[in-house]
Amino acid sequence: MNRIHQELDTLARFSSSEFPSVTRVLYTQEDLEARDYFISLCEEIGLKVRVDAIGNTYARWEGIAPELAAVGTGSHIDAIPLSGQYDGTVGVFGGLEAIRYLKSIDYKPKRSIELVLFTAEEPTRFAIGCLGSRMMSGQLTPEQALKLKDKEGGFFNDIREAAGFKGDLNEVKLSEDYYHAFVELHIEQGPRLEKENLDIGIVDKIAAPSTLIVKLIGEGGHAGAVLMPIRKDAGVAGAEIMMAVERIAKDSESEDTVATTGIFDILPRAVNSIPKEAYLEIDLRDTNIETRDKALADLKHEIAEICEKRHIKYSIELLNCDPPATCDENLVHTAEKAAKGLGYSTKVMTSHAYHDSLFMAQLFPTTMIFIPSKDGVSHRPDEYSSPEEIDKGIKTLALTLKEVASS
Ligand code: GLV
Ligand code: MN
Ligand code: MN
Repeated sequence: MNRIHQELDTLARFSSSEFPSVTRVLYTQEDLEARDYFISLCEEIGLKVRVDAIGNTYARWEGIAPELAAVGTGSHIDAIPLSGQYDGTVGVFGGLEAIRYLKSIDYKPKRSIELVLFTAEEPTRFAIGCLGSRMMSGQLTPEQALKLKDKEGGFFNDIREAAGFKGDLNEVKLSEDYYHAFVELHIEQGPRLEKENLDIGIVDKIAAPSTLIVKLIGEGGHAGAVLMPIRKDAGVAGAEIMMAVERIAKDSESEDTVATTGIFDILPRAVNSIPKEAYLEIDLRDTNIETRDKALADLKHEIAEICEKRHIKYSIELLNCDPPATCDENLVHTAEKAAKGLGYSTKVMTSHAYHDSLFMAQLFPTTMIFIPSKDGVSHRPDEYSSPEEIDKGIKTLALTLKEVASS
């Protein structure tokens, strides 16, 4: 399986940051070139490629009974700024390698097997994660998508059209009988498999993510001339909110509550000027929806209090607030059996990260296959899974697809 590792290495060069870090943001030149590379490899082995109105890319290996619902697999290739080369890509190029393997053993699937490259699992460009799968599942409507703007104020529709994706947004949504089952291969992005010395994780639940955008407006002014008692500093209000985000997650009754202020910008960004505006993007998640929602409510309450105390005008936008996903028991069992049959050690586990499978699970029986991440690291350039670990994931995926596509 040398080929897949070379392909992942080639893919990592489609990046706007220097190798080994990877930055591949939706609809940029790097993203479009990486997509072309993927499509050319799919066509090379005879898969039929279809690209929808927002760039979700489907590569189909037609089964003996093409009238039956297909079996889906796939993931994403977009990469957050200065991240690594395995997040998502292992599920896309590994999916392709799994299909190549099944072809090489002369397997003829009854159901078609379809490999999907989802558009923008990462929230980098439009602040919302799983854009492609969210629209496929109908959780983001075309009307809502048309309102999305990137950081430069460009509208989603103009940007996708400029990137060459011009179809009807209403055609992105999939019907509930489109897939018979969906299986995503992904790196764990956490330390559990490595710590327990296990080969494969099978996912039975995916945590519930939410994203808040907080905008603060205070009063700017001269850093020397405006004395402390009369200040309305939006920057320190933001800092206080950032501290509250951490505290609320730490104080939660659920140990799975995690909250991160990943973006915190201030304006005008001059050393001798009081910050007039602040902008925060906050990611808050949990495996338990009650404790996630309690943390969200507590946070909104604290933001109001902080802003009132500091005389800051504020707005809070809840960009997404998704339920957790429960995977399909039979499919979890099938994937586990496939891994065990190959002699691999396994564990059924929750995914704390979100994935396109969060949205596939709303429509179809879904599960995920995890492989270990070195030191549990992800979203960093030193993210690493070894070729052997990736190969085990691909073999497990291949045999799971074979089992499900034969039924
Ligand atoms: C996906 O990248 C996530 O943030 O969980
Ligand atoms: Mn990611
Ligand atoms: Mn991912």
